[in-house]
Amino acid sequence: MSTKNNILTFLLLLTGICLIWMETRPEFSFSLLNFRSCDCDTLTSTDVDPWFITHFNRSVEPFMSTKNNISERHFNWWKKLQYDRRNYAYYKATVEKLFQLLPSPPDEPSSGRCRTCSVVGNSGNLNDAHYGPLIDHQDLVIRINKGQTEGYEQHVGTRTTHRVMYPESASNISSNDTHIVLFPFKTKDLEWIIKATKTGLIGRQHSTKKGLVMVVNPSFMKYVHEIWLGKKGKYPSTGFMTLVLAIHLCEEVHVFGYGADSDGNWSHYWEELLNKKLRTGNHSGKHEYGIILKLAQSQKVKFYTGY
Ligand SMILES: *[C@@H]1O[C@H](CO)[C@@H](O)[C@H](O)[C@H]1NC(C)=O
Ligand SMILES: *[C@@H]1O[C@H](CO)[C@@H](O)[C@H](O)[C@H]1NC(C)=O
Ligand SMILES: *[C@@H]1O[C@H](CO)[C@@H](O)[C@H](O)[C@H]1NC(C)=O
Ligand SMILES: *[C@@H]1O[C@H](CO)[C@@H](O)[C@H](O)[C@H]1NC(C)=O
Ligand SMILES: *[C@@H]1O[C@H](CO)[C@@H](O)[C@H](O)[C@H]1NC(C)=O
Ligand SMILES: *[C@@H]1O[C@H](CO)[C@@H](O)[C@H](O)[C@H]1NC(C)=O
Repeated sequence: MSTKNNILTFLLLLTGICLIWMETRPEFSFSLLNFRSCDCDTLTSTDVDPWFITHFNRSVEPFMSTKNNISERHFNWWKKLQYDRRNYAYYKATVEKLFQLLPSPPDEPSSGRCRTCSVVGNSGNLNDAHYGPLIDHQDLVIRINKGQTEGYEQHVGTRTTHRVMYPESASNISSNDTHIVLFPFKTKDLEWIIKATKTGLIGRQHSTKKGLVMVVNPSFMKYVHEIWLGKKGKYPSTGFMTLVLAIHLCEEVHVFGYGADSDGNWSHYWEELLNKKLRTGNHSGKHEYGIILKLAQSQKVKFYTGY
């Protein structure tokens, strides 16, 4: 009798704890129930959202390779981003040098297999979000710039399969199985990659594994700006381009750490916000955020706001 009562009490207690937990983290518990829900319907079904169809273009190659030279027209768009003084011929020669050093990234067509991505931005809304297990659970975990995991594992997870960086900040990546995804904004950035590869600043840890250093195709950046953002802003933020990149790499995309924190500030989850003004620089932060919401509404991404 007393054993029965104990069991009953235990079960009641457990239910209570679960209810409280679900109450406080409705989104998270919902997602747990839907773990591994990727059935490849998400982006490949024929009845996808018309808005999405007019934006998504699978034939735009996300990464540079010897196989997808950009046209002079695309180069002329790209060279204006940071006032590149080099001409098209110089650019092409530089790309040729680059791919004598770097292997072209392997073709990674989705091949019918369903791949899931976590895209982890750096917003302060990740503080206290408890998304760690959910982020780590996806096949690819893409982090941006300095987005760190040490000390924040519970909220942001531990795995990093891809780290997106601006070339000059890409030195000393310690992990030897993380893909480095570099966003070049001018020919000089490509020259930096060549130099850094030669001196071992990047790629040293990666030398035994091919294709771990990936360079984003300028044409892809143009596509994000023109098609996804309707040319709003000078050019897209790295965070937004990374999100579109994830849509190209994965059939199911989980988006974390974008937008403001619960106070409405644009802060980083690992540091105190010093600049209290919304810093979107040359980017159209509000417009980009609107597109993310639209993607979430049309169920092309799952967007976790952290609060
Ligand atoms: C998709 O991208 C390819 C390659 O850049 C281009 O040739 C094609 O016109 C694009 N399709 C649409 C519908 O914009
Ligand atoms: C791209 O350019 C390289 C070097 O100029 C050349 O070897 C290659 O054939 C070109 N590829 C295409 C598809 O035009
Ligand atoms: C990278 O590592 C080298 C050698 O360990 C060191 O001299 C350099 O200061 C480091 N650079 C950065 C940016 O941490
Ligand atoms: C990567 O690093 C781990 C531990 O630091 C090491 O055991 C492994 O052999 C390395 N792999 C390659 C391909 O260098
Ligand atoms: C965040 O925004 C609020 C206003 O919404 C402001 O009062 C507060 O000082 C901001 N916090 C920081 C750290 O800037
Ligand atoms: C906008 O871009 C230009 C050119 O790259 C740069 O000089 C300027 O500092 C940028 N402005 C902001 C606010 O980042």
